[in-house]
Amino acid sequence: MSRRCRRRARRGAVGLQRVRLSSIFPPLVRSPNVASAPTHETTMPANQRTARVRDRRVATDATELLCADHREVRGLFAEYAKLARARAAGSERRPLAEEICTLLTVHAAIEEEIFYREARAAGVDADLLDEAEVEHAAAKDLIAQIRELDAGDALYDARVRVLGEYVGHHVAEEEGELFAKCRASAMDLHAVGARLASRQAELMSEMSEGMEVVP
Ligand SMILES: [Fe+2]
Ligand SMILES: [Fe+2]
Repeated sequence: MSRRCRRRARRGAVGLQRVRLSSIFPPLVRSPNVASAPTHETTMPANQRTARVRDRRVATDATELLCADHREVRGLFAEYAKLARARAAGSERRPLAEEICTLLTVHAAIEEEIFYREARAAGVDADLLDEAEVEHAAAKDLIAQIRELDAGDALYDARVRVLGEYVGHHVAEEEGELFAKCRASAMDLHAVGARLASRQAELMSEMSEGMEVVP
């Protein structure tokens, strides 16, 4: 068995999803049926987009890094909504939905592994952190459902839309309450931010190395 196949098998054993290449480096051209002009983000070559994201994260604190992720995923949900309204083909909608799922999976992982843990250690509102983890679990269930479905399924778009609503609610609580409490605490947000950026890059790299390329 090749090294790559062994890596896939190992990931499969622990339940990680296989993702398409396009979910990490999405196609630059979206549906021709979408009425609005493509954004700078969507027309930017993938390598420049990746580099921009990396640069953005070099000199930032933890809450700024997480807020940047929130803005990015909000933009992706908006793109998905346009595709859904334009009745774009599943071959266009699914890669974008998978990109959303990948971004959210990695984002939730770094928050749980590092940010929430550091916040608890600093004495930040435990009820708020408990609620955030429960909301993550609900979002992960929906992500698993979306990844199981074919994009032609009658409820596929609805599931992506509801995931967007869940995430919107969760992000509003994080940005409106939790992050403010973290900033007011003794957390070293720059040190935590550096750890978040490092772990995020590691997880994205692992997912791109271990994924199955689907033409
Ligand atoms: Fe978040
Ligand atoms: Fe979160």
